[in-house]
Amino acid sequence: MDMLADAIDRRTSLPRPLRVLMVASEVAPLARAGGLGDVVHGLARSLGAMGVEVVIVTPLYGITALDSVPQARPWNRPLWTPIGGDVRDVGVLETSIADDVRVCLLDCPPLYARGGIYRDDAGDFADNDMRFAVMCSSALRVAEEIWDGPPDVLHAHDWHGALAVAYARLSDSPEWRNAVSVFTIHNLAFQGLFPIQRAAALGLPESALHNEALRHGDAVNLLKGGIVYADRVTTVSPTYAREMLSPELGCGLDGALRARSGRLFGIVNGIDTQLWDPSRDRAIAARYDAHDMTGRVACKSALEAELGLDPGSDAPLVGVVNHLIPQKGIDILLEALPTLLDEGLRFAIVAVGDGELERALASAAARRPDRVAFRAVFGDPIARRVYAGADLFAMPSRFEPCGLGQQYAMRYGSVPVVSAVGGLADTVEQADDTGAKGTGFLFSQIDPAGLVEAIRRALKVRKDVGAWKRIVRNTMLRDASWEASARRYFAVYRELAGAAPRPSLPPPPPAGEAG
Ligand code: GLC
Repeated sequence: MDMLADAIDRRTSLPRPLRVLMVASEVAPLARAGGLGDVVHGLARSLGAMGVEVVIVTPLYGITALDSVPQARPWNRPLWTPIGGDVRDVGVLETSIADDVRVCLLDCPPLYARGGIYRDDAGDFADNDMRFAVMCSSALRVAEEIWDGPPDVLHAHDWHGALAVAYARLSDSPEWRNAVSVFTIHNLAFQGLFPIQRAAALGLPESALHNEALRHGDAVNLLKGGIVYADRVTTVSPTYAREMLSPELGCGLDGALRARSGRLFGIVNGIDTQLWDPSRDRAIAARYDAHDMTGRVACKSALEAELGLDPGSDAPLVGVVNHLIPQKGIDILLEALPTLLDEGLRFAIVAVGDGELERALASAAARRPDRVAFRAVFGDPIARRVYAGADLFAMPSRFEPCGLGQQYAMRYGSVPVVSAVGGLADTVEQADDTGAKGTGFLFSQIDPAGLVEAIRRALKVRKDVGAWKRIVRNTMLRDASWEASARRYFAVYRELAGAAPRPSLPPPPPAGEAG
């Protein structure tokens, strides 16, 4: 560690390891609703292993899995977080992930002690703006307590974390105004839009409520705060970084993003190759690796038995693990299903979300219980058994910032069939007929016909047992570890934290547009 820290010193010309404050609404294994939690965990852990001093600030929810981490210890006094002229009593419980990453859990029961991260059965929490604004303002207070001032880099994630960047930039303190910041967009479709009247309670000054800053039409757009005020804006794949500049995929923010395009780029997500490792995974029926894949046969039979699918058939099994939201294109899959069943395929679908899609999948399964299995659950451990037991893994996303499912599937040897967008295009390499190269099958026409065509291509190659084995091996040997990506983030931090004079500043409000 000392040697590493030393190396870091030379790389940043700082007299000590680089200090990074991460602000995020999800951190696995404490609380996760999707890929964000996995990514914050994996990135922080990898940076920690490189000798970066990482502190993560995140809420203590009613559902936070405190038993998944070392005993959390309370700080001896609350943060007294300022917010919109008010002050909130926010306690801190400190724990860690992976030994060298500190996690400060914000303890404020009126805001966070609920049965969900963003919502419960009744829908999104009405005070989500305040809940995450308090997280952001508290994050700055945490840095004050730990380091007596700003970190070397403030790294905020998604709309929930965006206000941390805005608060720093709009602060009365020159130190915070000059703090270096990086903002990562995991999904442009979620922007944190709230009535403009809420701005004062959130502590946002009139001067920031114009269309070049936090305002978007009649709303405050919190995500935009991150885009406008951060020194660097990153997203989770290079292809998505380009796509988000287009009106089709820019979700109304393509203009704001184009204005910052010189400071915007993509870094593809890694996965935790220790947590996701078929040679060690106890949740699957048998262990295997790229050199001896015999265990996959047992995994496939066990999955068929678990899901009540027609056993012992050689018919290819297609896995799907996903959220039922329009982005993911499950409706495309449903439309293609009759044709795909005619091709002799079987399906193992694990997905939750939209009620209508859930009902449609359940009735497809009820019609052909021997061929289509559907479980309305989120993630582990059944997801692992699908990755391990399926032959193909389908992900017909309309857009996909990065996507983790296809990366887990490849690691477990199920061959992805994916639309050629965003991170799917950046992580899956088109396979050729011989299996000499490639890790999956991509299609650019994102509709049922496109999906069917790609699956047919896969089935054709699968008839050649040798070629198919090579493709499966390619998927399993693909380097998906966090290390390369964490190094890219580190390079961004170093460029910013080491650079003098400080680069970039937010645009001034144009005359006459404020308010
Ligand atoms: C969001 C995106 C997904 C990405 C994940 C983590 O959930 O939709 O594509 O992999 O964030 O960055």
